[in-house]
Amino acid sequence: MTAVPTITLNDGREIPQLGFGVFQIDPDETAEATSTALRIGYRHVDTAQMYGNEAGVGEAVRSSGLARDDVWITSKLNNGFHEPDAARRAFDGTLEALQLDHVDLFLIHWPLPTLYGGDYVSTWKVLEEFQRDGRARSIGVSNFQVAHLERLAREADVVPAVNQIEVHPYFTNEQVRAYGEEHGIVTQAWSPIAQGQVLDDETIGEIARRVGRTPAQVVLRWHVQRGDVVFPKSVTPSRMEENFALFDFELTDDDVTAIAALDKGEPGRTGPNPDEFDYVPD
Ligand SMILES: NC(=O)c1ccc[n+]([C@@H]2O[C@H](COP(=O)([O-])OP(=O)(O)OC[C@H]3O[C@@H](n4cnc5c(N)ncnc54)[C@H](OP(=O)(O)O)[C@@H]3O)[C@@H](O)[C@H]2O)c1
Repeated sequence: MTAVPTITLNDGREIPQLGFGVFQIDPDETAEATSTALRIGYRHVDTAQMYGNEAGVGEAVRSSGLARDDVWITSKLNNGFHEPDAARRAFDGTLEALQLDHVDLFLIHWPLPTLYGGDYVSTWKVLEEFQRDGRARSIGVSNFQVAHLERLAREADVVPAVNQIEVHPYFTNEQVRAYGEEHGIVTQAWSPIAQGQVLDDETIGEIARRVGRTPAQVVLRWHVQRGDVVFPKSVTPSRMEENFALFDFELTDDDVTAIAALDKGEPGRTGPNPDEFDYVPD
């Protein structure tokens, strides 16, 4: 098995570039799916309070026999808990659900700029507390646009280690990625295969046939060669294995450019626009 590379974050910690995403995995099936992923070799799991399945992730990691330090665990603050005391309570809930004493990375899931008077800065300062007390080893944000990152740069002390944003061949999100690259913020590409929507693409199919790999592997390899972190989700063991086998082939620079040229701009976005998104779960 070829080792998964790590990327050094701006706080000096090393994150595995490939992980396992658990969005939309049923809470009752999460422990089993995560255990399978860990057996295949994944050492990085991306969950969130909003997914309702942190407990299954914690169970799988604790029962894996792996040392805690050998598995990277990310979770995210639920929308609706941005006020400082609510964020503190919610984070206690994450550690309780995971049954662990720390996470490797904790993120503000969405900036929610139209709620809370647009104050994601106070929320960020609470994540700075979690990092100081050691319960979140690294801290970052998700779905932050350039303006949101610029405001944190002006008003907060810690630069986010990562920004987890929608990125795939039909929505390459270059401006936000470029801001991250210039400011030492690693991009994590969510929905890296656009939940399957890019897999029938003609250009991707041609490259896949030439390199003798599947379209999913080509797209995931494209992210890796661009330097982003990815964590494809699958509940299908054969796909988990397929998505893990990315480090024994390479795309040419022309392939990388051709896939990036599939970008459709805003119409290619599959998820909500972070400037407008204001969903708060009941
Ligand atoms: N921060 C955020 O706001 C945010 C938003 C969305 C996602 N995320 C994170 O990013 C992770 C990945 O994104 P995602 O779950 O939205 O989508 P994704 O990983 O792009 O795609 C997952 C879908 O593709 C299918 N699939 C997986 N591997 C495949 C393969 N090799 N061939 C064909 N189909 C395949 C899966 O089906 P099966 O499961 O049926 O195999 C599933 O339906 C999430 O799990 C979550 O951790 C974060």
